[in-house]
Amino acid sequence: MRSELHGSHPLKKKKLDPNRPDHVAIIMDGNGRWAVERGLQRSEGHRQGVNNLRNVVRAFVEQGVPYVTLYAFSTENWSRPDNEVQNLFGILTDYVSTEINSLRREGVRILHLGNKTSLPSEVRDAISLSEEMTSHNELLTLSVAFNYGGKQEIINAVKQIVKDGVSIQDINESTISERLYTSKIPNPDLIVRTAGEMRLSNFLIWQSAYSEYYSTNVLWPDFGSGDVDKAIEAYSSRRRKFGSVDY
Ligand code: FPP
Repeated sequence: MRSELHGSHPLKKKKLDPNRPDHVAIIMDGNGRWAVERGLQRSEGHRQGVNNLRNVVRAFVEQGVPYVTLYAFSTENWSRPDNEVQNLFGILTDYVSTEINSLRREGVRILHLGNKTSLPSEVRDAISLSEEMTSHNELLTLSVAFNYGGKQEIINAVKQIVKDGVSIQDINESTISERLYTSKIPNPDLIVRTAGEMRLSNFLIWQSAYSEYYSTNVLWPDFGSGDVDKAIEAYSSRRRKFGSVDY
């Protein structure tokens, strides 16, 4: 389903690109480098990175993109220094408490992708609250991958298939897709990675089989609405073939 802002909506000003993506997933990289370049602690980079979200989410709403997914904390990020891990947990809970009301008002639905059980209870509660408070919204679904790992997600799906007693001849792509964290959202059309890196880093590895990729040297805390526009423009000029021939 595509989001169309109503004529009077305050964010409606752009002519929508007919080839725009429905779902953009973002690997927000470069917070540490942004901080180090300024002689600041890495935590300041993450702080700035999260401050940036309001503008980025608005830019996607303006572009009529109905699904945005953010890679905020991977299962591999537990190997970072404990103070950085705790800092990221604090950032998530602060984000929910300060932003949830405006996200709800603006029509944003929050979804969590990942394993809630190994997170501290205050983080789990913040995630559940944000999902509950915004569950009726439809303008933009903002999925937050937090304690997310693509391989683990597939392992969990396989375990669930066995538990459900599905017989071999009934196993197809949907059998797996329906058991992933992303079962309620479409596959990403476009994966954006900031800070010049070109890796998927265990992010949506099943769902991105036919995604387009876009990498920019801009560090995540500097990624603004102009960068959102550039990424969408780059996507809309691509020809997607899904394995076929189109000439
Ligand atoms: C990568 O930068 C960024 C992360 C591991 C964390 C991103 C998380 C946030 C911006 C907070 C998100 C919170 C919410 C609520 C969605 P890096 O530290 O790897 O940067 P570097 O490669 O320059 O060191």
